[in-house]
Amino acid sequence: FDADIAAGARFAAEHCGACHGATGQSVAPNFPRLAGQNETYLVKQLKDFASGDRKSPLMKEKVAMMDDRMIRSLAAHYASQKAANTPSDDAQLMAVGQFVYERGNVYAGLPACLSCHDTQGRGSANMPRLAGQHPGYIETQLLHFHQRARSNDNAVMTVISARLSPLETKAVAAYLGNL
Ligand code: HEM
Ligand code: HEM
Repeated sequence: FDADIAAGARFAAEHCGACHGATGQSVAPNFPRLAGQNETYLVKQLKDFASGDRKSPLMKEKVAMMDDRMIRSLAAHYASQKAANTPSDDAQLMAVGQFVYERGNVYAGLPACLSCHDTQGRGSANMPRLAGQHPGYIETQLLHFHQRARSNDNAVMTVISARLSPLETKAVAAYLGNL
């Protein structure tokens, strides 16, 4: 069966909106924005919550209510929504973040984020969009990768999260939130 965007939108309004917003514009930084997130990536995350490869008690309870077609319908719905961002007023911090994002840190063996997440932070089919995401959520995910609490991509992001300093983490999150 093909994804049913209208069914995804109804399900989202009823079951996801309280945390992520019906159109994916969550307000609180502990809940990721889903608007404009890449469809294939969204499907993978929902399946990872279901299998336990990505641990979140809240999300595990929610995906238990979805069949395969609803997972694809929700992903199609959220992917079709317009992304928004979180402006920062700290230009110096964002400048450090842009450096890290575009050039990495050769002295710490940190690759540039743009090599996977796109020059503008849009990601690709399998890579998450980071542009416009809540800085607080980005920081939390980097911590989760570091603590191996998010075990669905330990190879790449675990190494990266270990090589980011606290300043670089804050800075790249602020830069991305504003993109
Ligand atoms: C994360 C979808 C309902 C709380 C996520 C992610 C997706 C998602 C795709 C991962 C986003 C990313 O990796 O960028 C949905 C859908 C829902 C739903 C389709 C409706 C069925 C909820 C509700 C809550 C919630 C109702 C709160 C009670 C969270 C939290 C995370 C998350 C806390 C972050 C988990 C972490 O830190 O790894 N959700 N969600 N979600 N969701 Fe939901
Ligand atoms: C996921 C940040 C570099 C590959 C993520 C997430 C964040 C992030 C915050 C989680 C997004 C979400 O939950 O919505 C960064 C930063 C980087 C960087 C700040 C540079 C310092 C890279 C590079 C690669 C990469 C160089 C590829 C070699 C991935 C992949 C995922 C991911 C595959 C998704 C993992 C999954 O399926 O759960 N990244 N990233 N990242 N990143 Fe990166």
